[in-house]
Amino acid sequence: MNKILYVKGSPMGELSSSIAVASSFVKAYREKHAIEVDTLDLFADSLPEFDRAAANGKYALLHGGAVQEEDAAAWRKVEQVIRRFKNADKYVFSVPMWNFGIPYRLKQLLDLVIQPGSTFSYEPGKGYSGLLTGKKAFVIYSRGGEYTADSGAAAYDMQKPYFELALGFMGISDVVSVVLEPTLAGGPQVSSEKLQIAIAKAGKLVDEF
Ligand SMILES: Cc1cc2nc3c(=O)[nH]c(=O)nc-3n(C[C@H](O)[C@H](O)[C@H](O)COP(=O)(O)O)c2cc1C
Repeated sequence: MNKILYVKGSPMGELSSSIAVASSFVKAYREKHAIEVDTLDLFADSLPEFDRAAANGKYALLHGGAVQEEDAAAWRKVEQVIRRFKNADKYVFSVPMWNFGIPYRLKQLLDLVIQPGSTFSYEPGKGYSGLLTGKKAFVIYSRGGEYTADSGAAAYDMQKPYFELALGFMGISDVVSVVLEPTLAGGPQVSSEKLQIAIAKAGKLVDEF
C-alpha cells in the first residue's frame, strides 16, 4: 500500500485555496488507489525547534565525541520527524506563497529533514546526492498575485524554484505541480474560477501519480 505524506502548508484550514486543491487531489487519488495517508498540518501540529541543543546533538553524532543528554534528546526529536518524512512513498504538499517564498513552518520542516546521512549524502569528488529517490511529489502552489513569464514579476517567485530545489536536493525529483494564481489580485470571481481550474488540473494529474 502506498504511504502518502500530506503536508498542509497553510494555516487557513477550510479557507485555504492550496489545501482545497491538495485535499481534492488526495481524495481523487484515494478513490483509485489503496493508500495510507499521514497528514502533517504544519500550523496545527507542533514541530521541534532546530536549536542549539539539536545542532549540538547532530554534530556530536556526525563528528563523534561526548554528547549531553539534553542535546541527544533534542536531536532524537528531529530524527522522529525525519523518520516520519522518509516513511512516505509519495508526498502531497499545499504550498502558499508567503513573501515570495514559502511559509516559515514549511521552511522549518525542510530545515529539520534536510540532513546529511538521512536525506542527502556528500562524497568528495562526487558531491551531493539525494537519498529519497524513487519517490513522487504533487505540489499545489497558491499565490495572491501573478508570477507568469509575461507578468514582469517572475523573478520574484522564490516559492516554486526554491521548494523544488529543496525536494530535488533530497532526491525527490519526480514532481508534478499546479500553480494557482491570482488568489487575491483579480478579485473573488477570478479567484473562484482559478480555484476550480486548479482543482480540475490536479484531478488530471492523479493518473500519472
Ligand atoms: C504572510 C503572507 C504573505 C504573503 N505573501 C505573498 C506574496 O509574497 N506574494 C503573493 O502573491 N501573495 C502573498 N500572499 C497571499 C497568499 O499567497 C495567497 O493568499 C494564497 O492564496 C494563500 O494560500 P492559502 O489560501 O492556501 O493559504 C501572502 C499571504 C500571507 C498570509
